[in-house]
Amino acid sequence: MSNQTICQPGLLEEPGRSAHYLEMQWRQGVDNASLLQAIKQAVRHVEGAWIAVCFGADAWDRLNPQWRPAQLVPFSEMIGENGYSMPSNQSDLFFWIHGEDRGDVMDAVLQVHDAMRDCTDCVLDLSGFKNREARDLTGFVDGTANPEGDKRLDATLIPQGEAGCGGSYVFTQEWKHHLQDFAKLSLHEQQQVIGRTKSDNIELEGDDMPPTSHVARTDVKLDGVAQKIYRRSTPYGGADEHGLYFLAFACNLTRISIQLERMLGNTGDGFSDHLMKYSTALTGAYWFMPSQADLETLL
Ligand code: HEM
Ligand code: MG
Repeated sequence: MSNQTICQPGLLEEPGRSAHYLEMQWRQGVDNASLLQAIKQAVRHVEGAWIAVCFGADAWDRLNPQWRPAQLVPFSEMIGENGYSMPSNQSDLFFWIHGEDRGDVMDAVLQVHDAMRDCTDCVLDLSGFKNREARDLTGFVDGTANPEGDKRLDATLIPQGEAGCGGSYVFTQEWKHHLQDFAKLSLHEQQQVIGRTKSDNIELEGDDMPPTSHVARTDVKLDGVAQKIYRRSTPYGGADEHGLYFLAFACNLTRISIQLERMLGNTGDGFSDHLMKYSTALTGAYWFMPSQADLETLL
């Protein structure tokens, strides 16, 4: 069986226009069997929507004590040399619901919420949307450097032979933008912050690429291997509070944590990500998304 056929549905689909994120805490006193039964109801197929479920480390260990993905840990607050920090809101379950039509996605959101209501409490309930040309609310295109084809599978899925193969490590982080501050920058300065041009979306080259740009901090090679991850973030929010719900999948957790340390200025080269001047991390959590086969065994 190829990896593609065993990962949860929707992961490798091209992004539709609508997404919804539900992070939930397992309620005290609810036993394993009741929770699993509720999840089974929650993830039933809904026409026009994809529903995937991911588990926090504590929940996974309780539900499935037989084996665990080697690197799965709860996300703990990270403090940066740059004076900024990334808080944790780690909870037990993450439902990623997405599709083209907001109405179809909403049907799925209500199904999940209804199935889970006696077993969990929502700690995050956020709807996201695909902006024109997949642009973040800063106006820059987001997702361009995502790996494609087989490279996407390699970057995203835990390899054969490892515990949890065909599944993924997942990171979620709600960022609140300070768009009024970002808008005060000149176009040149904005491009220096991101590391790409705004309208044509071309990566800055050579001396034009500041080491403090977001792309320079997150485009990482280790021993000659590009530490690619697969991002499925979307903008979210209303008039007063808005930003990016960052969502990424990876074949190992280190790829993600290195990027976060580099953004925070914790990797000893004296640089941190200037994007953090214009956006604040409000939440952060690590998850394991089991393969479809492992999910069905569990349920
Ligand atoms: C690239 C936006 C947070 C990882 C980018 C790009 C934009 C962007 C506009 C350039 C286009 C692209 O290749 O997608 C943002 C915003 C964030 C955010 C607005 C939050 C405020 C993060 C975080 C991580 C991350 C937390 C890591 C955990 C990456 C990676 C790339 C990227 C790996 C591609 C780098 C490359 O290889 O060229 N992001 N991002 N981003 N971002 Fe972010
Ligand atoms: Mg590059």
